[in-house]
Amino acid sequence: MIHASVADYRDAARRRLPEFAFRYLEGGAEDEVTMRRNRAAFSGITFAPRVMVDVTNVSTRTTLGGRPAAWPAVVGPTGLNGIYWWRAEETLAQAAHAAGLPFALSTASTSLMEDVRGATDGDLWLQLYVQRNRAIAEDMMARAKACGFSTLLLTVDTPVTGQRDHYARTGFTLPLKWTPRLLCDIAIYPRWTAEVGIRGVPQLVNLAESARLEGGIEEQAAAMNRQMETALQWRDVAWLRRHWPGKIFIKGIQTASDARIAFAHEVDGVVLSNHGGRQLDGAPSAIEILAEVAALAPAHAHVIVDGGVRRGSDIAKAVALGAEGVLLGRAPLYGLAAAGFEGASDVLSMLRRELEICMSLVGCTDIEALDAGYLARGEWTDSRAPIIRETES
Ligand code: FNR
Repeated sequence: MIHASVADYRDAARRRLPEFAFRYLEGGAEDEVTMRRNRAAFSGITFAPRVMVDVTNVSTRTTLGGRPAAWPAVVGPTGLNGIYWWRAEETLAQAAHAAGLPFALSTASTSLMEDVRGATDGDLWLQLYVQRNRAIAEDMMARAKACGFSTLLLTVDTPVTGQRDHYARTGFTLPLKWTPRLLCDIAIYPRWTAEVGIRGVPQLVNLAESARLEGGIEEQAAAMNRQMETALQWRDVAWLRRHWPGKIFIKGIQTASDARIAFAHEVDGVVLSNHGGRQLDGAPSAIEILAEVAALAPAHAHVIVDGGVRRGSDIAKAVALGAEGVLLGRAPLYGLAAAGFEGASDVLSMLRRELEICMSLVGCTDIEALDAGYLARGEWTDSRAPIIRETES
């Protein structure tokens, strides 16, 4: 099977995963308008290529969150990865580090952060969901500190889970229930069942460890849903500072005015994000607010964007508009779900290669010099559906 692009890995993931797992990976909130918009926003940006430039050597090397990175991307935090691959987070972290990138571990991970640390000595970031019982987050931060994680991503776009219609359509529930419908779904994917299903239901072990939960995934997920802190406010950044000595990024900023407030609270960085279109349908795309945020960000602040990055040229566009880098959500997951470490690594190699090709073709030899001067003014609308490939129902 030839995989020429991230889209090909998406198709391969779809073939290997039971419907409930693929939809969990892929699906957005409500009518998926924001999810499609994330792709459309990239399509609407046009380069202003410079020709007759010596592009014999092109450098993508940069810094991300204050540390060197081979190219401007971080493998982002995604929960419940164990439904795609055995030891999914260890595998993703290894693929990220082999590619010279940091890896961000989700609070809702299915591997312990200590095990992820044991699997790699690369740069690790912790994504934090804050529960009503603040002692859980405090324990997570203490564990991450002990494991040498460098950066904390506080996710703020999820006080409640967005309305995801596909949960009802596929029979996926949190807590997960092995209904006859789900068992039928699994039964027709023998490869997945032999490689993943046979090992039991993946557990939210990271959360359970800090919450001292002894039940299975059902109790853990139910606890996570019921106990999500819905009263988190800007003043809580000071609470985080008391417990986290490293860098603090706020993930899920969706307007320039909120970015301004975040910087006023002296966070180290922001991740402009609508959670891959999985939360508020009708939210703007990060790339649309990027230029305004980059213009108001203090010089030392880190600005990262995510949502819909599927091509190296998307990364070039984000950097040109002022981002330090991008956060990758679904793209490496497609590779992982299709073929484990090799798949995730291949997706990352493709994105880097595409970024290098794009830089050569726009006539920019150093990623640090890629700015808005390499972009054309004005928007262009792709008359074809701009989504990577129309979502099959
Ligand atoms: C996510 N995302 C996410 N974000 C977060 O802060 N904590 C989490 O546990 C998760 N879980 C999660 C699961 C899955 C399956 C996906 C696809 C996404 C959001 C993620 O970090 C990122 O913001 C988006 O995925 C970026 O959009 P793309 O790249 O997927 O289009």
